[in-house]
Amino acid sequence: MLTLGIETSCDETSVAVVDEKFNILSNVIISQIEIHQNYGGVVPEIAARNHIENILPVLDEALRKANLSLDMIDQVAATTEPGLPGAVMVGRVFGKSLANALDVPFVAVNHLHGHMSSLRLSNSDLQLPMLCLLVSGGHTILYAVNEKWETQMLCTTVDDAVGEAFDKVARVLGLSYPGGPKISQNADMNLSFTPILNQFPKNTFSYSGLKTAVLNYINHEKQKGKTLNIPEICANFQFCAVNQLLTKVREYLQKTQIKKLGICGGVSANRYLREQFQLLCDELGVQLYLPKPELCGDNAAMIAAAAMLGIK
Ligand code: KG4
Ligand code: ZN
Repeated sequence: MLTLGIETSCDETSVAVVDEKFNILSNVIISQIEIHQNYGGVVPEIAARNHIENILPVLDEALRKANLSLDMIDQVAATTEPGLPGAVMVGRVFGKSLANALDVPFVAVNHLHGHMSSLRLSNSDLQLPMLCLLVSGGHTILYAVNEKWETQMLCTTVDDAVGEAFDKVARVLGLSYPGGPKISQNADMNLSFTPILNQFPKNTFSYSGLKTAVLNYINHEKQKGKTLNIPEICANFQFCAVNQLLTKVREYLQKTQIKKLGICGGVSANRYLREQFQLLCDELGVQLYLPKPELCGDNAAMIAAAAMLGIK
């Protein structure tokens, strides 16, 4: 039973083949980051146009790497929501047409369920129920996930997503898009930083306030004619961003007494976040599931896996 996955919801064009045991036979990803870097962020129309150009070569490469031909595919899955409308449409229409032509079922996949499925692909021993923290460029959501992969949203951000805040702060500091990895690298240069941002509400997902505090700090420093200490600012921002997540997740782990925690989405690649959550889980006797680094960002293997898991 082979599932072909397609992902085009943002700036990655990806096609993957996954078998019924969740083995990834191929997972080809073409990133458009370099194109969008010129604009400081993803330009929706350009993303859609590039998906149209990339999708056939990426499909060919995915089949070639898996050593398969199209007639061996048993079902086709594609991200159909949420995402940039023009970009999502490319994968959805392509996937539906392909399924029609092959006379196999088409499975519509929610991108967020895709990220959750990266946890199953990366942890063959994954057990449910779990709490699942999804941290990406567009979302910051804590879910409860039961044994049937039914999800219940426990809390979400009231404004920006955490990844979005990483990207915006990076932009102001002159670090290139996407900012998450750049902030992380800069913060790593300054492990014993002096706290300069300490005025944040502790018990909520709210990243717009944190972003504004960083911007205000930067403006004040500039007004005083000081040179910005970028590693110091990055370390402070990252500390506050991750601390909010830790505080809220700790509260829910204690409240629900669920002993498994999964973290997924692009920001789950963050080294400091991974370390801090491991410490929290060790303290509370909770098993932590993380995606493999290559499955944190957008990819089609997670979309194929979500189609098989039938997450609701
Ligand atoms: O899941 P994803 O690839 O796309 C969405 O569905 O949004 O997440 C992209 C986000 C971007 O905001 C990017 O800056 C962030 O993930 N990100 C990181 C790191 N790597 C990627 N944020 C913090 N630290 C990282 N190492
Ligand atoms: Zn994503």
